[in-house]
Amino acid sequence: MSPASTEVKGFYRRSVEERREVLREASGLASSDLAPWQPGPGLPSGLLERMIENVVGAFALPLGFATHFKVNGVDRFVPMALEEPSVVAAASNAARIARLRGGFSAQVTPPVMIGQVSLVGVPDPHAARLRILAAREELLKIANEKDPLLNRVGGGARDLEVHLRSTARGPLLVVHLLVDVRDAMGANAVNTMAEALAGELTRLSGGRVNLRIISNLAIHRLARASATFPREALEGEGRTGADVVEGILDAYEFARNDPFRCSTHNKGIMNGISAVAIATGNDFRALEAGAHSYAAFKAPPGGILSPLSTYETTPQGDLVGTLELPLAVGTIGGAAAVHPAAKLNLKILGVSGARELAEVMAAVGLAQNFAALRALANEGIQKGHMALHARNVAVTAGARPDEVDRVATRLVQEHVIRQDRAREVLEDLRRAGSSSP
Ligand code: MEV
Repeated sequence: MSPASTEVKGFYRRSVEERREVLREASGLASSDLAPWQPGPGLPSGLLERMIENVVGAFALPLGFATHFKVNGVDRFVPMALEEPSVVAAASNAARIARLRGGFSAQVTPPVMIGQVSLVGVPDPHAARLRILAAREELLKIANEKDPLLNRVGGGARDLEVHLRSTARGPLLVVHLLVDVRDAMGANAVNTMAEALAGELTRLSGGRVNLRIISNLAIHRLARASATFPREALEGEGRTGADVVEGILDAYEFARNDPFRCSTHNKGIMNGISAVAIATGNDFRALEAGAHSYAAFKAPPGGILSPLSTYETTPQGDLVGTLELPLAVGTIGGAAAVHPAAKLNLKILGVSGARELAEVMAAVGLAQNFAALRALANEGIQKGHMALHARNVAVTAGARPDEVDRVATRLVQEHVIRQDRAREVLEDLRRAGSSSP
């Protein structure tokens, strides 16, 4: 069957039902096949349509809560939405170990975001830079007039920087507007302010304003977390705690000295952070962009990437982990303010605002990283993954809920986690009468 044309006129103006019908017909599906898109009571159709365009339904992810987290002395049940097995369990387990030494300590810097305005065709870029810096007060005033509410709650445009870049298309002036966005992620406030400066910056520079947009490399809005993991709590799988500490320190050095490993090291950190971001209605793409570009920004001269975490030992031989990265998260505005499940999750998490949310996220990122390194330096991560994977394979092979565990256990024991084997095991079970057909 040749694919139907995707040139659908006015798709965005049609109702949800009509859009579904277009897709159903184009794919030759039955109406009942579209059931997985059905919005639930947690996210009604009307709300979905206010969030994005061309809505046909909702896409659900598993939501779990990590346990054992204590951050700055406060216990937190941490919501995590993601599709990957083992992540929630690993975070909880790491938090349980950190708890033995008081849990995580975390801090954030003031929530200052960067809005960038690029200026091209500037005849005298060095002098223009000074003219813009001299007009600082006036420019900040123009920006702040755009958001009186933010000013009332103690935020607002705070400062200006001007960078001169030399590019293939000539000199480029980049103005950075630094904005304290308080409890918001900040994109709307910052973009509005950056756009408002266009007229005055054109006049001051004698060039043309090109882009006006927030930067996700939020180097001024950092979150930091640290924790001590007692050596004796790390022993297992026939290895002493001291051996495991050595393995984690070697793993850290691997990440510090090899960009291919460092990328995966930092991905593990973001497994936890992005899961909390999704569960709390935050823009996880912005966080991912910020984290990975910060890893590049902090790389030593000649390096490409640096790990977002560090590991060292106390004089007693316990392992100390730290994490630092930009975390532009919000608890007001955006999906955090409208998505019913995000609002509920934030309530259960119990944070007072974006600052505490970022502190918890930094703790989760560190927990996730520690858990991954511990598993990797020990038995590897596949063992944990495989138990859940085996359950999925059992279900796909046709096991009923009462059969899933027995099939999965056999697959794990045999170290053969494949559909064909799952079907054979299922047939065996049913033949043996241990399960009615
Ligand atoms: C898998 O999602 C994440 C890990 O690869 C992270 C790491 O290797 O550190 C386990």
